[in-house]
Amino acid sequence: MTRTPLIAGNWKMNLDHLQSIAFVQKLAWSLRDAKHSSAEVEVAVFPPFTDLRSVQTLISADKLDLAHGGQDLSAHDSGAYTGEISGAFLAALECRYVIIGHSERRQYHHEDDALVAAKTVAALRHGVTPVVCVGETAEDLEAHGPSAVPVGQLAAVLAELAPDQEIVVAYEPVWAIGSGQAATPEQAQQVCVALRAEIETALGAEAAQRTRILYGGSVKAANIAGFMKQKDVDGALVGGASLDVDEFSAIARFP
Ligand code: G3P
Repeated sequence: MTRTPLIAGNWKMNLDHLQSIAFVQKLAWSLRDAKHSSAEVEVAVFPPFTDLRSVQTLISADKLDLAHGGQDLSAHDSGAYTGEISGAFLAALECRYVIIGHSERRQYHHEDDALVAAKTVAALRHGVTPVVCVGETAEDLEAHGPSAVPVGQLAAVLAELAPDQEIVVAYEPVWAIGSGQAATPEQAQQVCVALRAEIETALGAEAAQRTRILYGGSVKAANIAGFMKQKDVDGALVGGASLDVDEFSAIARFP
């Protein structure tokens, strides 16, 4: 089964709504102009919530070949949850994706596996595809090896899913995020294989073969090709390098 590669830019808390418009325009032009840009690669941006309406309007009005998504959502659909954003709101802004369980949410907002699973179910309830992030810290790596923690985090989500429900998994070793010290392509492949095996155990072979698994952590134009050569790495979730149009465009045009 062929899986369409996904190159996703997580802007985190960067770029306001005016900057987001300029960025998306430049990105679309850059990808369009690129001779070797492949129609077989899906490119998505994940701006802050306050940018989503501007980005949606631009993508829709100019029929840009880009997807957009939120960086988080509430496990609830509506109600007295000050500051929260529901899956319904993301769906209304045509978000194709939403990032869930990023390590920064797990670390700074104390999101545990149960909440990540509930948010995943909430996204699916509204037709928004979850990009579920998993990954080990340096301490986890030392104590448990590379796969145990990410596989355990994913298992908690898979337990709530039916085989036909689509998610994207992003393997992001915490020690590689923003550190400039990316995992090696072989390390990423090793964990992605373990994650795919866990999907097969929980949801069956078809789901395992269909599900895209991304690598994230200090991805840049100079190292993307190595990751994309791996059989079980289906794309990248890019942080810092997604804030530079030329760099992100080059990542999306990996050879
Ligand atoms: O979600 C993307 C991310 O956490 C990786 O960030 O800056 O290491 O590419 P960065």
